[in-house]
Amino acid sequence: MKLFTGKPGWTVRADVIVIGSGVAGLTTALNARAANLSVLLVTKANIDEGSTKWAQGGIAAALGPGDTPDQHKSDTLIAGAGLCDLDAVNVLVTEGPEAVRKLIARGAVFDKAESGEIALTREGGHHRNRILHAGGDATGAEVSRALLAAVQNDEGIEIIEHALVIDALKSKSGEVCGVTVHVIGEGSRDGVGQALARAVVIATGGLGQVYSQTTNPAVSTGDGVAMALRAGADVADVEFIQFHPTVLWRDMSLGGQQPLISEAVRGEGAILLNHKGEHFMQGKHEQADLAPRDIVAKEIFTQMKEANVPHVWLDATAIKDFKGRFPTIYASCLENGIDPTKQLIPVAPASHYSSGGVLVDLNGESTIKGLYVCGESACTGAHGANRLASNSLLEGLVFGARIAEHIAKHLPEQHDSLVNEKEETILLDPAIRIPLQLAMSEGAGVMRSEKSLAGTLLTLEELSKRKTKIADINSWEVSNLYFLATAIVRSALARTESRGSHWRSDFPVIDIKWQSRIVEHLDIDGAWSTTTEAVQS
Ligand code: FAD
Ligand code: SIN
Repeated sequence: MKLFTGKPGWTVRADVIVIGSGVAGLTTALNARAANLSVLLVTKANIDEGSTKWAQGGIAAALGPGDTPDQHKSDTLIAGAGLCDLDAVNVLVTEGPEAVRKLIARGAVFDKAESGEIALTREGGHHRNRILHAGGDATGAEVSRALLAAVQNDEGIEIIEHALVIDALKSKSGEVCGVTVHVIGEGSRDGVGQALARAVVIATGGLGQVYSQTTNPAVSTGDGVAMALRAGADVADVEFIQFHPTVLWRDMSLGGQQPLISEAVRGEGAILLNHKGEHFMQGKHEQADLAPRDIVAKEIFTQMKEANVPHVWLDATAIKDFKGRFPTIYASCLENGIDPTKQLIPVAPASHYSSGGVLVDLNGESTIKGLYVCGESACTGAHGANRLASNSLLEGLVFGARIAEHIAKHLPEQHDSLVNEKEETILLDPAIRIPLQLAMSEGAGVMRSEKSLAGTLLTLEELSKRKTKIADINSWEVSNLYFLATAIVRSALARTESRGSHWRSDFPVIDIKWQSRIVEHLDIDGAWSTTTEAVQS
């Protein structure tokens, strides 16, 4: 199954196509170049768009005195609530420190303590200070700056901006050998074309825009995951949407990207208060305000429901030099009329991160040969049911290097010719975007139930009847949102337990029989199947 497009009017070729210019795409591209492969990097908007540049808290890695990959592993496994893939976590935590050192060698500059050593802070679920940060709370901007400079300096990487990848192309033997892509304003490469390669790497980031309120930027419409689904790749763990506990509460009628108040603010001493002024996380978990994210988000949601209020409060007034330590957050609070050094900050959970994605092996290869996936779009199994804070940038660094290494060793000389069979196409009306997002927030949000999920699934079915023939960015994106929303709801309905960031009011506790991951699959004529797979945790 494919999205409806015009006929491709141009063709471009490279050894490897990397889709996306966040930490995952840029790291993969640089490592592929180091292996002497030609790289085409296509990205949907300006090159620095994506979640990476918004990352605040930092990157987790066992670099501090006394810290070890084993301790990092233990915190990752606890946060993942029994569903982490042990091998993937081992890779993440043991290769993490070296990947961070390589990032520093590529030019990223992290904040230093007075001793001159890299400063390390703490976030939810970590039992140690192991988070490197830059510019106080502007870690992502620094990571993005450093990697972009390296990529833009490399003549072997061709970059096409404003290039939205639509669907995968397959060879007669079933391997992925390219993509269709729509480019705006690139002369002879304007409009729909095809990019052919010996391997394709999806690094299109998260899917926060499936929900009404999210920390994710506008480009996070999950295009790569939806494309992989349509190509027949397995997609897993998508019910585990992580809701960040502390997103600046404004007027909830404001949809789209919302300002984040980093968990590092709690790491530096801020506490959560309810409307009676009670420090409600105390006594709820041994790490109180710094419990894993899913636990804090659930407690905030409960407090809001019980008091029938739209937010709780974050008290950061005891933090010395808030402005110096958190300049980005300070500015966004002031923009919204709050001085965090003197006032409480209103906060509520919002969709933040997709712990699942396209199912890949330890080399980042999906269930379809030639199709690799890196970063937030991938399900490596490293996050299980709930990602540990600041493990995402790390995952992009670690697996980006592994993917490039694997491609370099296993790249086919060339593929068979393209399949030209006519596949069924679909394209949905952009007007369904807001109703879809509202239905997802209402029925598949922080807390779900069979009733709420079934209602959302019905709405999605109704919305999917609204088709269009106008193929443009809006209709491609909304069609992708529809595929992802359906996958999330199907998996959330199937998982009749509460675990990690999947919270069912009708099945409120963890159930040992669900010690497995749920896999969604779409076959060539658009039929869905949901299966389960054991996890080596
Ligand atoms: P992204 O950085 O999102 O990049 C995706 C790229 O794909 C973009 O360039 C986009 O334009 C492009 N793209 C998308 N669709 C298409 C398409 N169809 N065709 C072509 N290109 C496409 N994680 C941490 O570890 N530490 C943190 O402190 C942290 N803080 C965060 C704060 C915020 C506000 C947010 C939103 C996230 C935070 N995260 C953090 C999560 C982390 O930033 C992301 O998970 C990570 O950056 C994802 O990297 P990525 O390369 O996979 O995707
Ligand atoms: C934050 O700074 O709170 C976000 C960190 C993350 O998503 O890992």
